[in-house]
Amino acid sequence: MADESYEAIVAEQVGEKFTQSVKECLLSDLPDNDVLIRVHYSSLNYKDALSATGHKGITKFYPFTPGIDAAGIVAISNSALFSEGDEVIVTSYDLGMNTPGGFGQYISVPADWIVPLPKNLSLKESMTIGTSGLTAAIGIDKLTRHSFNQDSPEALVTGATGGVGSFAVALLAHLNYRVVAATGKMDQADFLTSLGAGTVIHRDDVLNVPENPLLSSRWPAAIDTVGGKILDSILRQVSHNGFVACCGNVLGNQLDTSILPFILRGITLAGIDSGIARMELRKTIWNKLADEWKPAALHKLAREVKLHDLPKEIEAILNGKQIGKVLVNLL
Ligand SMILES: NC(=O)c1ccc[n+]([C@@H]2O[C@H](COP(=O)([O-])OP(=O)(O)OC[C@H]3O[C@@H](n4cnc5c(N)ncnc54)[C@H](OP(=O)(O)O)[C@@H]3O)[C@@H](O)[C@H]2O)c1
Repeated sequence: MADESYEAIVAEQVGEKFTQSVKECLLSDLPDNDVLIRVHYSSLNYKDALSATGHKGITKFYPFTPGIDAAGIVAISNSALFSEGDEVIVTSYDLGMNTPGGFGQYISVPADWIVPLPKNLSLKESMTIGTSGLTAAIGIDKLTRHSFNQDSPEALVTGATGGVGSFAVALLAHLNYRVVAATGKMDQADFLTSLGAGTVIHRDDVLNVPENPLLSSRWPAAIDTVGGKILDSILRQVSHNGFVACCGNVLGNQLDTSILPFILRGITLAGIDSGIARMELRKTIWNKLADEWKPAALHKLAREVKLHDLPKEIEAILNGKQIGKVLVNLL
């Protein structure tokens, strides 16, 4: 393909600050990887906002195009695994960290980062799910494999209006769980109910509890997207043989907790890292999400924006103000 220009969000340092703007980039500036993909949709994740604002733990060199999610059509393939015209999904690995990401109309990636788009899923639906949905689904997959056996299963979801949380609410409800959604935004209770939450509680109701190492059992399971003090509170309130999946560090990286719920209630704490999830698991989960795990409420989860809307969306997610998912249309 002759060198072409394309549009991308470029994050760069201007004085003390990092800015993001839409710029013309050249295909020849992309890394020389196996497969060039014309990106149709991406989605905004918390990690993208960190990359866009200069967090060196995520992105080392600027100017840079963030975007850990991309779905599109193969433009050029030097791999036997993919052909021109294939519809594909790429999430995480190094995409949008130090490999230019899905906030550009083209990405160039190794073939072994690519998942073929499953039948019954559109490119747009795949990015309505994105990394945050994949993360929630990996946690819920672990939950469904856990040994407790309930006629009417129940699960708490924290950070419920966020990208991971809102998808967890919708998928658990779709799988017939009674969902308790914990949020700091009680004005979004109707949104959470529309996704399938049975009960909406304020996050302080989870957090502001006595310091005792064991508290009354409240939930058999939880998907926690926040971490820190709220995760400690959950561990002390899940019931016997309870299961908690954690993926987020919105409240920090430290977990100061008691061993007693583990040794007296036999609870399980499972970590989720969708970034390095093995390819077999990714394909299995994406295939489920295209089929029996496609939430009925999927269309309610995302707002569609264009590249030039991203700077203000990045600010909102960094301030904990995001509601549901932001789907990015790069057509
Ligand atoms: N491990 C992985 O593979 C993986 C993958 C994706 C994301 N993550 C991590 O998971 C977390 C959530 O990601 P996301 O994309 O869902 O982010 P997000 O859209 O920004 O959602 C985070 C939610 O956390 C809640 N929150 C914000 N500030 C809070 C505070 N001070 N105290 C308690 N809750 C607060 C808010 O929900 P409410 O207002 O509803 O409470 C917010 O919407 C992030 O830490 C992200 O890095 C991990």
